[in-house]
Amino acid sequence: MADIEMSINLSKTGRRLLKFFYFAFLLIVSISNYSCQQVQSKNNDIESKVTSLLSKMTLEEKIGQMTQIDPIAMSADQINKAVRNGNYGSFLNVSGVEKINALQKLAMEESRLKIPLIIGRDVIHGYRTIFPIPLAMASTWNPEIVKKAFRISSIEASSQGIKWTFAPMIDITWDPRWGRIAEGCGEDPYLASAFAKAMVEGIQGEQLTDPKAVAACAKHFVGYGFAEGGRDYNTTYISEPMLRNVVLKPFKAAKDAGALTFMSAFNDLNGVPTSGNEFTLRQVLRKEWKYDGMVVSDWGSIAEMISHGYCADEKEAALKAITAGVDMEMSGTTYLKNLKTLINEGKVDLAMIDEAVKNILTLKFKLGLFENPYVNPEAEKQMLSPEFLDHARIVARQSTVMLKNDPNTLPLSARISSVAVIGPLADAPRDQLGTWVFDGKAENSVTPLTAIKAVLGNPKVNFAAGLKYSRDKSKSGFAEAIAAAKKSQAILFFAGEEWILSGEGQSRGEINLPGVQEELIEALSKTGKPLIVVVMAGRPLAIGKVVEKSNALLYAWHGGSMAGPALADLIFGKESPSGKLPVTFVKGSGQIPFYYYHNMTGRPANAKSWTPIDSIPVINSQASLGYKSFHLDYGFTPLFPFGYGLSYTTFKYSDLKLSSTEMSKNGNLTVKASILNAGNVDADEIVQLYIRDRVGSITRPVKELKGFKRIHLKSRETVGVTFELPASSLEFFNGKGNVIEPGEFDVWIGPNSDEGLHGEFAIKN
Ligand code: NOJ
Repeated sequence: MADIEMSINLSKTGRRLLKFFYFAFLLIVSISNYSCQQVQSKNNDIESKVTSLLSKMTLEEKIGQMTQIDPIAMSADQINKAVRNGNYGSFLNVSGVEKINALQKLAMEESRLKIPLIIGRDVIHGYRTIFPIPLAMASTWNPEIVKKAFRISSIEASSQGIKWTFAPMIDITWDPRWGRIAEGCGEDPYLASAFAKAMVEGIQGEQLTDPKAVAACAKHFVGYGFAEGGRDYNTTYISEPMLRNVVLKPFKAAKDAGALTFMSAFNDLNGVPTSGNEFTLRQVLRKEWKYDGMVVSDWGSIAEMISHGYCADEKEAALKAITAGVDMEMSGTTYLKNLKTLINEGKVDLAMIDEAVKNILTLKFKLGLFENPYVNPEAEKQMLSPEFLDHARIVARQSTVMLKNDPNTLPLSARISSVAVIGPLADAPRDQLGTWVFDGKAENSVTPLTAIKAVLGNPKVNFAAGLKYSRDKSKSGFAEAIAAAKKSQAILFFAGEEWILSGEGQSRGEINLPGVQEELIEALSKTGKPLIVVVMAGRPLAIGKVVEKSNALLYAWHGGSMAGPALADLIFGKESPSGKLPVTFVKGSGQIPFYYYHNMTGRPANAKSWTPIDSIPVINSQASLGYKSFHLDYGFTPLFPFGYGLSYTTFKYSDLKLSSTEMSKNGNLTVKASILNAGNVDADEIVQLYIRDRVGSITRPVKELKGFKRIHLKSRETVGVTFELPASSLEFFNGKGNVIEPGEFDVWIGPNSDEGLHGEFAIKN
């Protein structure tokens, strides 16, 4: 009734407006229907092309499509013959416009069915313009700039004929000993999921048929980051709740973002190698998630199931991999040599082969490779363009995390009369690029030394590396470094790890600064000059002693081609540091694993309950240490918590407000707070939202990240930040199914996982 009255009372303009919105609404609905129909008809079109092609293929040609090789050991004649015969569907590690165009020409003109090859390569954090390592990119908490970084990587890579990259690597890990921590997005499933989406979207671009689009590959599926002892390739045991609540999350996000391919991993998971794992590949990926993309095995991982002791020989390995749903074998010939026999013996159904080939051909059609298999030689002109390098500088800047700043240490004035630049990473162009760099060039790196000289001018910079490389144990350069420090107003020490100390197969047992860097830092601290340490490393190192000895500390990871200028921007205050940690920093290896969202123990420790090892009296009774959960030597807190990072200004959080103190299982809350930039410089802050589910049908994490926002605040400005917290985001897997459980929850909005404004709410039945 009220509605009718309202429409009767509407003015003429009101009626016109209503009409306008009605027609606009109809237009939007029909446009979106039209584009859905277009996508649908394109998919149908691809499906019918795939079906028709499949019907013409011999079994040998099908198995060829299912095989990817690195032709490094093959002669040009062998390669050409194999392409003509359709022996391989894909190559990896081939690059260069001419080479790839020639191979495609052979495939398109001289092979029987004219199926283009797809060329894959590891383009993990940049092709020629190298961005910070992915763990550093995650420290930006800025998916938008990371998406653009991956777009740039794809533009450069595709200009060389690469249409498939083995990225993003989205393995959650809690172990900084594991060398591959460098390649992922850290410890948190929510943060990693946000980056998984951004990376996939950046890699693939908006139009898959665009020559600049590249297929993404979500890897390594799954659990690889939980290698026991942080030793690469080691066995993993992950409970199903942990798998579903943590490890699988970023992969689901990658799938939802449209990742065209997935890679099965090297590890065995709960006793079953992941390249032969029907539970993860068929049950979770295909059945539950309805993934219709393509799955490739990691390098040689099908045959490695023999070494795992899961298969007796290559034939069994091929059988288990195809049964589990691996479509393409990377760098191995178990499919090539055994699938035909397995079919003839009736152990593999032809339908399984057809399904795999269908997935592979669909990928090639989606990328437009049949219509446009060649690379335009003009495209490579964009490589290392100023815009790309600028973006690399922005990402490196935002990925640097300031962990300490005694008052008035940083920023340095650009009018400072002299600085000492010391340390093995100060002028190490290759090391700053980090791991997984095949195509980036050290000569395109701008090092901190070069960048600082550009700001201050040569004469004001007293450079003495002190150590030749990070593991250098010779102290012969100490005297020169100390002399440089003594004649300077401030010391900039560039510490860290060489690139080769992190990445695949590059795990470490101890995660301190290698060599005698700590000793040199200690000696320099004795000069009494302000000591600024910049750590450039592939993992979160145990840097407690360095923090003590320094006046300021920037954690810059391996920052890529433009690490130097980015660091100079921060050191001289052109911009404030704004990165925050995507991983917990431990005090030492013995504290691993330490991650912020652990479950609460029955015996939590607090400041009163911990007796540090050196304070324990010599004469004791059995119960004198209180039986709480801590290490006698490390205590119970990490060195720096997840989400931590300082700025040149201070932010004050106030006015936490919840839209309600309760919601239903279908409900939604908004949670707000005000953030004041209380200092004198404009800066970015990363505002974080955490919750705790107090009681659950299984024990729940003490905190979980459920939202974050990077905001820019002018000096003295206050900004209100609002988060949506739908009840659905509180769902978890409890061992039997996914549940949203009624009960009480804590909520925090804060600057890191350890601090924040606190509120409470409840979920009602
Ligand atoms: C092995 C690595 O685990 C994987 O990440 C990479 O993509 C392949 N090799 C190809 O290089």
